[in-house]
Amino acid sequence: MITNIFKDKESIQRYRSILKKITERIKNHNGLIRVITHHDTDGLTSGALIIKMLYRLNKEFHLSIVEYLSKEFVDKLGEEYNNRYNNNDNNNNNNEDNILYIFCDMGSSRINDILNQGLNAIILDHHPPVINDLEVKEIYQLNAHILGINGAKEISASGVCYLVAREFGFYDLSALAITGAIGDMQHKPFSGMNKYIINEAREHRYLTGILKDIIYNCYDLPVWKSMLYNTQPYIRELNNKEKIINFLKKLNIDPEKRNLNEEDRQKLKIALMPYVEKEEDIIVDRYVIKHKVDDAFYLSELLNACGRKGLGSVGIGAAVEDDECINIAKDIYIEYKEEIIQEIRNTQINSLNNIEYFFGKKGMVGIIASLFVKDKPVLGIYEEGEYYKISSRGNKNLVNEGLNLSEAMKIAYKFGGNGGGHNVASGARVPKIHLDEFLKEVDEIVGKQLKK
Ligand code: C5P
Ligand code: C5P
Repeated sequence: MITNIFKDKESIQRYRSILKKITERIKNHNGLIRVITHHDTDGLTSGALIIKMLYRLNKEFHLSIVEYLSKEFVDKLGEEYNNRYNNNDNNNNNNEDNILYIFCDMGSSRINDILNQGLNAIILDHHPPVINDLEVKEIYQLNAHILGINGAKEISASGVCYLVAREFGFYDLSALAITGAIGDMQHKPFSGMNKYIINEAREHRYLTGILKDIIYNCYDLPVWKSMLYNTQPYIRELNNKEKIINFLKKLNIDPEKRNLNEEDRQKLKIALMPYVEKEEDIIVDRYVIKHKVDDAFYLSELLNACGRKGLGSVGIGAAVEDDECINIAKDIYIEYKEEIIQEIRNTQINSLNNIEYFFGKKGMVGIIASLFVKDKPVLGIYEEGEYYKISSRGNKNLVNEGLNLSEAMKIAYKFGGNGGGHNVASGARVPKIHLDEFLKEVDEIVGKQLKK
């Protein structure tokens, strides 16, 4: 039972009550439903999951994909909402006929702006909330943290969206929830509510298997390509086609082969061990889902590439199993990874006492930052107008030692910017002139966190 996941009776009651209210609000809504989601894998799977739910419920909807939920964007929604409300001639200013907003993978940190605009809204989020209530005036806020579930580890935004969809019996959407959680790197290993969703997906056969396999078998690509483009783990010594092909040939493995057999897997694993920290880096749990892209990790990688390259709609198309979008997404993935490999070669790391940082390109700094994390968190920075945008990444060990990048990134507010996210992966936006001061303060904050 899903209720076993909750820590106490009160949480179970609150969970039941908020889900009842959310599903009623969706069911009773006659007007447009405007879904706003984030451009990363978890955001795209959340968006795809929600629109699948809405078209099954015969609702009119509109989906927007954003990189970041800014105050300006919320204010614009407010304008649209209020215009519509005021232009309602029959004076039937009923919320059920006006616009209903569903924010996925975002919204909890912007709840005050959403409140200020008086939007009729549902927030489905897993980021730390600023208001710790499930109901805040007109807003229903289903946020994992408020129910005692760790949103950084135990459930992703698409998992939160799935909690709503399963109320309607749409258990097949669990496949997208699993993909979203993998995109947010919550799968090593899955725990808490994620595990519950995994079990439910298995029971209904939307997750058809969990296979111990070599990571390169996740991809629908010749092995040399999956070795080149896979960055989890990134093997610096094998960072071009020629090196990989020679490496495979020495092992007597055909580089063009897909789906390595047991013998190949063993040979490759043994040969790669000197380059990785542990066996689990290359021998992983593969989640086989009922989807045209049947490996959840590969699907999450395709969606990530679409989102980061500004092709979120193609990502949504791939997530809802449009054949042409899946083909485009596969091409985009290769293009994106080629660019990443090139960018990694050009990356120059700078060190402060407790953090490292580098300058890079939009859509790439987050992934590259995570590849460079060893014993210090890494910040990737790129320019956008009058601002620098920052993606910061840590690892499990650093978080266990006290690292909280979300707190560190929030120092951006002091400089007229903003920031937040999770302890292990977070981001910020800082006016250009304040970058040095920002980095200095982040360095000090991280220093204090790691000495705790
Ligand atoms: O918006 P959201 O919280 O979902 O974004 C988190 C981002 O951080 C994702 O893009 C995810 O891939 C990344 N991440 C990471 N390393 C982790 C956890 C998350 O790079 N250990
Ligand atoms: O953009 P990036 O993938 O680095 O974002 C990592 C995490 O930080 C995400 O959860 C994102 O929602 C959060 N973030 C934030 N404020 C920003 C930038 C990112 O809360 N200005």
